[in-house]
Amino acid sequence: MKKVEIHPDAVERVKKFSINDSKLGFGKYVAPIMIQATYDNGEWQKFDLVPYGPLLLDPCSKVLHYGQEIFEGMKVFRQPDDSIKMFRPELNARRFNQSAKRMAMPEIPEDQFIHACEVICAYSKHLVPSRLGESLYLRPFMIATEVGMGIKPSKQFMFVIVASPSGSYFSGDAVKVYIERDDIRCAPGGIGFAKTGGNYAASLNSYDKTIKLGCDQTMWLDAIEHKYIEEMSGMNFLCVIDGTLQTPTITDTILDGVTRKSILDIARAENIEVVQKRLSINEVLEAIRAGRCTEAFVCGTAAVIAPISSFLDKDGTVTRFKEIPGKLGMQLREKLIAIQNGRAPAPEGWLYPVKDLSF
Ligand code: COI
Repeated sequence: MKKVEIHPDAVERVKKFSINDSKLGFGKYVAPIMIQATYDNGEWQKFDLVPYGPLLLDPCSKVLHYGQEIFEGMKVFRQPDDSIKMFRPELNARRFNQSAKRMAMPEIPEDQFIHACEVICAYSKHLVPSRLGESLYLRPFMIATEVGMGIKPSKQFMFVIVASPSGSYFSGDAVKVYIERDDIRCAPGGIGFAKTGGNYAASLNSYDKTIKLGCDQTMWLDAIEHKYIEEMSGMNFLCVIDGTLQTPTITDTILDGVTRKSILDIARAENIEVVQKRLSINEVLEAIRAGRCTEAFVCGTAAVIAPISSFLDKDGTVTRFKEIPGKLGMQLREKLIAIQNGRAPAPEGWLYPVKDLSF
């Protein structure tokens, strides 16, 4: 593993940096440092901690034309003893490499990925917020930097990690969902499971429609039958039907969310029945009308858990929950946040301590 080289100007910059804002929002602030590494001649070269700043890219870099790019989203939490811990970073490291494989990009050894994350966290320790529900959000990403117009995999790449002290993703209390019945986001055999910009780019046209219609998130259905729930544009979907926690089974068109996985683990540990299946949107809407589906929520690293208040369909029909927020979603949210912030015992290996560096 290559140790990250620390540039003194980066340390000087971050030492002097502070944020004075009671409403952090999501991604509004970034730490003034970043990790940067290059891949060339078939291997990862140096990893550096440098001052945050613009990336120098040739206009013909392949990422700018063919979208060869992947990223991750992960969080670091302040603990009651003032130490900081990363939440399940090995799952992000593994998923990053699964995305890399699908996008014909080089993998980063898991210990190298986690070490780079740990270094930017350690030097941003004073920027990790302490209020419950807030965290330092890490955004590791990799882009194809080889210059050329030919459509073929790049042989050169850049890996970067930036860090953002963040609060909640949604400004409102509950999420209004627009059911996208026309466009599709990804098809079987495609790139849906990979965390790559193309999946998010494919959602943006519908985002505008969703917002104009007074909703917050687009719900994507399967590409073949336009019937089964896949996920939201940036988060997974769960609901409670007949007292069981239900969510679409992960396939190659759905992102395998770390928060989703953690919620299912917490629910099982609390003896809540978890059902993973092909979940049709019409089945969910009918179950809401019949009073059998009592709540639904979205979950993701950025979003944590946010209750859904209503669904808007293409024909203008609105289906609302009677009780918002639902009880189970809020209980799971509290439990997850308590674990992340060291207020409740964490399952083995969920919290990765970031070493303390005095600098
Ligand atoms: C995350 O939750 O980390 C994501 O990357 C999704 C995006 C909506 C911020």
